[in-house]
Amino acid sequence: MCGIVAATARREVSEILLEGLRRLEYRGYDSAGMALIDAEHNLLLHKRLGKVAELEQAQAMTPHHGCSGIAHTRWATHGEPSAANAHPHLSGNRVAVVHNGIIENHESLREELKGQGYEFQSQTDTEVIVHLLHQQLEERVEFFQALKNTIARLDGAYAIAAIDAENPDRVVAARAGSPLVIGVGIGENFLASDQLALRQVTDRFIFLEEGDMVDMGATRLHVEDASGAVVERTMQRVSAAVETVDLGGYEHYMLKEIHEQPRALAETLGLEASHQVEDERFGAGAGAIFDQVKAVQIVACGTSYHAGLVARYWLEDLCGIPCDVEVASEFRYRARARREGTLLVTVSQSGETADTLAALRGQGEDEFIASLVIANVDHSSLVRESDLVFLTRAGAEIGVASTKAFTTQLVAFLMLAIALGRRHQLSEEATRELIDALHQLPDCVSRTLQLDADIKRLSEAFILKNHALFLGRGIQYPVALEGALKLKEISYIHAEAYPAGELKHGPLALVDAEMPVVAVAPGDELLEKLKSNLEEVRSRGGELFVFADDNAGMKGDSRVHVLGMPSCPAVIQPVVYTVALQLLAYHVAVQKGTDVDKPRNLAKSVTVE
Ligand code: G6P
Repeated sequence: MCGIVAATARREVSEILLEGLRRLEYRGYDSAGMALIDAEHNLLLHKRLGKVAELEQAQAMTPHHGCSGIAHTRWATHGEPSAANAHPHLSGNRVAVVHNGIIENHESLREELKGQGYEFQSQTDTEVIVHLLHQQLEERVEFFQALKNTIARLDGAYAIAAIDAENPDRVVAARAGSPLVIGVGIGENFLASDQLALRQVTDRFIFLEEGDMVDMGATRLHVEDASGAVVERTMQRVSAAVETVDLGGYEHYMLKEIHEQPRALAETLGLEASHQVEDERFGAGAGAIFDQVKAVQIVACGTSYHAGLVARYWLEDLCGIPCDVEVASEFRYRARARREGTLLVTVSQSGETADTLAALRGQGEDEFIASLVIANVDHSSLVRESDLVFLTRAGAEIGVASTKAFTTQLVAFLMLAIALGRRHQLSEEATRELIDALHQLPDCVSRTLQLDADIKRLSEAFILKNHALFLGRGIQYPVALEGALKLKEISYIHAEAYPAGELKHGPLALVDAEMPVVAVAPGDELLEKLKSNLEEVRSRGGELFVFADDNAGMKGDSRVHVLGMPSCPAVIQPVVYTVALQLLAYHVAVQKGTDVDKPRNLAKSVTVE
């Protein structure tokens, strides 16, 4: 999704800005741009539709240099992907703005500004910001005050950074609803929507709070809060080594990340020393909070929501406590009945998803006893704003379609179920068995990865299909949902998942020879029921692709293709079967020739509503 990088220094910053954009590329975007103020105080602009590489090419052809600048990767919300709609946006050839988020009252502002003679060059909501700012500057309002007056006119969510040719040594910025972080250098300061963009130049960061406004020069930092009071925000040193995010010999990041799962799962587990799930894994004070938990409310989006759906089965079955799961964009906008002793659990790979963050922030007073986030990115907004934190150790996930983040979230949830369960109905022996099962997980996943060639062969049957059905029962139903999501995200095949028992209530009408039906069918207690459902498909000419272990005793024939899965403890089957479905989606997409790591229209981190 949209990314911001800005810099003001005593040295030339164009390469720093471009490198920052490169580091944000994985988030998904459709165009990129950069504006600099040169030594003669000219405002210089490059904007390109497409990849950052196109922008680099423009810079190579016509080099722009300057000591202050702003840069952006855009993911279209208002207005099609195009060079004209790419940021930065300019006004009066003196001021430039980059913006993440959405300005809700942009239409009325646009009309007002047009009435004052401003000509709009783009269809974006952002362009109103730069003209409002220009208007202030032309009225000789001081630059930082001009930004304050401008944002007072805006409704919506934003992170904004601006430069002005007549204030060549400054960058001003504001944060309300979209993340923004200051990178502190020596004789230089930076801004970005994600600290990852700046790890090349500094390890010292100031994470801005909601409503903060910034006025910065190369050696000067001034931050005001929403009320206009000057504040000193704490500087944090982010010392963890910058991860290498190269392909490591794989054809795509997604494939690399699928194969990293045994390691990621083992690191997330980290059980070697104690053979226990220590409460402290969830943060200081977790034990006292867990003692009070009588129910759990999980809130998340996309793949992370599916992790919550799997977790519900574990929390209710193993702990015997009620658990609700809801997509964040629905949760945040409805009146909710309270349940005493409920723990709010948000789940998010990025820790920045706008709706999930809004759900956390929008909780009613005393509605929950505490909030816990399961996240993959340290220092992210959800991590900073939650009472308790479980950090998954998936490592940087670049592929837009989430893989290792999902399976490590499942591990986090099983560990949560163990931590809560021992306070309820989980016996010591059952706990030991669960931990033993968790220890087997990396190996079971490794054995599943060895099925790659078989899964690739199966995938060939999907290439010319337009639709696919995924079926599962019980805890395998959310696994089917995640399998269908992976397939549609990256191969653009319309895929739906159903609890197999619902087949007769609608989707069976769709089944014919053109509809591949994927079944998640480990030999569990619901297998016999599932087999009857699969018969219903077979007798209507449907072609079945069944992922099943030996215990399932599934027999293949010309219309039933069975993929023999490794036998593993029942409780970890959702993780193991998910990995097989990830490989299926991957191979279908590769053979269809789609952009596997950056599927069309999707973004890695969705920071707008
Ligand atoms: C986007 C990504 C998905 C992800 C979802 C939630 O849609 O493309 O892969 O599952 O956001 O993101 P989060 O970072 O909160 O897990």
